[in-house]
Amino acid sequence: MIQAERILVTAALPYANGPIHLGHLAGAYLPADIYVRYQRLKARDIIFMCGSDEHGVPITITADKEGVRPQVVVDRYHEANKQAFSRFGMSFDNYSRTSLPLHHVTAQEFFKDFHARGILTERKELQFYDGEAKKFLPDRYVEGTCPVCANTEARGDQCEKCGTYLSPQQLVNPRSKISGAVPEVRETSHWYFPLGTYQKRLEAYIHDRDARDGWKENVLNYTRGWFKEGLQDRAVTRDLDWGVPVPLKGYETKVIYVWFDAVLGYISSTREWAQQKGTPDAWRRYWLDKNTKYVAFIGKDNVVFHTIVFPAMLMAWNDAHTEQYVLPDNVPANEFLNFEGQKFSKSRGWGIDVDEFLSRFPADPLRYYLCTSLPEYRDSDFTWKEFQAKNNNELADIFGNFVNRTLAFCARTYAGVLPARESLNERDNAILDLAGRTPVKAGEYMEGYHFRDGVGEVMNLARAANKYFNDSEPWKTSKSDPARCGTTINICTQVVRTLAILMSPVVPAACEHLWGMLGLTGKAAGQSWDSAGMPALPVGHKLGTPAILVAKIEDEAIERELKRLGQAEEAAPIAEAKPATDPPKPTITFDDFRKVDLRVARVVGAERVPKSDKLLKLQIEVGSEKRQIVAGIAQHYAPESLVGKSIIVVYNLQPAKLMGQESQGMLLAASDKTGNLVVLGPAGEIESGSTVK
Ligand code: MF3
Ligand code: ZN
Repeated sequence: MIQAERILVTAALPYANGPIHLGHLAGAYLPADIYVRYQRLKARDIIFMCGSDEHGVPITITADKEGVRPQVVVDRYHEANKQAFSRFGMSFDNYSRTSLPLHHVTAQEFFKDFHARGILTERKELQFYDGEAKKFLPDRYVEGTCPVCANTEARGDQCEKCGTYLSPQQLVNPRSKISGAVPEVRETSHWYFPLGTYQKRLEAYIHDRDARDGWKENVLNYTRGWFKEGLQDRAVTRDLDWGVPVPLKGYETKVIYVWFDAVLGYISSTREWAQQKGTPDAWRRYWLDKNTKYVAFIGKDNVVFHTIVFPAMLMAWNDAHTEQYVLPDNVPANEFLNFEGQKFSKSRGWGIDVDEFLSRFPADPLRYYLCTSLPEYRDSDFTWKEFQAKNNNELADIFGNFVNRTLAFCARTYAGVLPARESLNERDNAILDLAGRTPVKAGEYMEGYHFRDGVGEVMNLARAANKYFNDSEPWKTSKSDPARCGTTINICTQVVRTLAILMSPVVPAACEHLWGMLGLTGKAAGQSWDSAGMPALPVGHKLGTPAILVAKIEDEAIERELKRLGQAEEAAPIAEAKPATDPPKPTITFDDFRKVDLRVARVVGAERVPKSDKLLKLQIEVGSEKRQIVAGIAQHYAPESLVGKSIIVVYNLQPAKLMGQESQGMLLAASDKTGNLVVLGPAGEIESGSTVK
């Protein structure tokens, strides 16, 4: 673990072409914010930079769709996202934007430097051109039929139906997204960054930083995957009229490729922050000092740009300058958060924006729930029921309840004046000891980017404190043994203060509220993590007025959300039961096939999934093992008709949640042209658990 006095934290710059949704929060922003708030409590010199990514094709496409200039789109979403983040409690030191002149200067400075030093090479190439619109067409501006799955709406960079990555030339019947015209092929030229020549150094860099700071396995795996394929040179210019202009004579119609400029946005944001503070050089202390620890939080779709492209760019700069940029010391990327069993999808109206969420619920319950189910190792799932359960059964019943019973007791029995701690018994010592140790244990998790476990440790203290309160029975000792009662309440109140500090990275608003109820000045966020476990409140301290800390979320509120969801589900075209005679898929090897572990299973129970008209939940036996799978066959089978049947399941499929239900595998079924679906099974008698080969 790298222990540095100075820490620079960045979170991916979201595209300003749409609202932030819960998936974004769980991928990068909440973990980054918890980490930063924790490090501030550790009194580290830390800054936290973010901003809007305002260039790139996603933005021009949105602008085209709306018939407005890109600037209109980015102005709108920059403001909206900035606000949504702030309501969610993100504590950025600066939220900048890449359309600022300062950023253009930064990006052009790197580009010009690389060009002048002969690092960039020019290549002529053929590209699709729209003769009607008189424009070259970047990948996403070409649409056509996918060569793999025959989807007629495939994009030039990827087919969203089957997931295949494509180049525009692979599309069958290509057409321009701008005019619908059949594109012609024309020659253009682009500047390339020689990523391939950095591979050895990048491998050494990743190895070194992983050894020092423990990188996440998923991040290492994605990165190794790129190394294994061999790094390719990358075009860093585009034929577009929105972006940072290429700063070379004769290339004024081209812009710098969005990823080349966006990652440099972290530097521009820090420069802007320094200027706004009136110390324009202050950014250098973070970026240009080798004693800085640099941590870049992102979601998994951004890994290659942060572990390979950005470090290579910084290496290229560092090779020829005395000022040396720090490279990321860690790139903690989360997997994805799904929403009620499906991917967030703007076009299908599936998911919920932060803004909308916070118009109906406060931020802290959302922060707590997301923190306890962060997709740290694998994709995770947001469900409304779980959101309610986490808030009501944990945040309210454990943390909130302990706080309220303690403060209410103290108000009632001692008029809110802290009683003394007299002689301590074993139980007293045990809880004081746990409070003292919790910052250490939870802190280790936080340093290692294991935020679920970190908050878990803090909640364990709250749980133990509730038990301590119960076991100590102050409501009895207040009569029978007042000194004992005072001791109990003193200790409980000390632990309340401990929790107010340790929970503040996760539920900051509640903790500041609590700080006031404790009658303390300053802020919970201004305290010291390390000494948070010490009993610091003096005898006779006057507490503030207690109030309910965490409100319960009512069933009706959740029912309302589920109802809205049902409406979204009807509107959403479900991608199952497609018409048959799909075109053949590419050939695979026998080894590819053998990766799929197919087994015979027996259905022992089946029922509909509540609120879904598509899904059945099956209990199956695979040999002696029992499993649950969820299958989209409710419109084709009555549940009871399946019980006792033998089926074939994919036994080694990654588990998933569908409409909140765990699915540990998938059954095989075939569908015909009309969408009729038939579940497949063995043609003869065979034991469940048998391998299909
Ligand atoms: N805008 C990109 C996205 O939303 C992320 C850019 S991260 C940066 O996926 F580092 F390039 F800024
Ligand atoms: Zn496809």
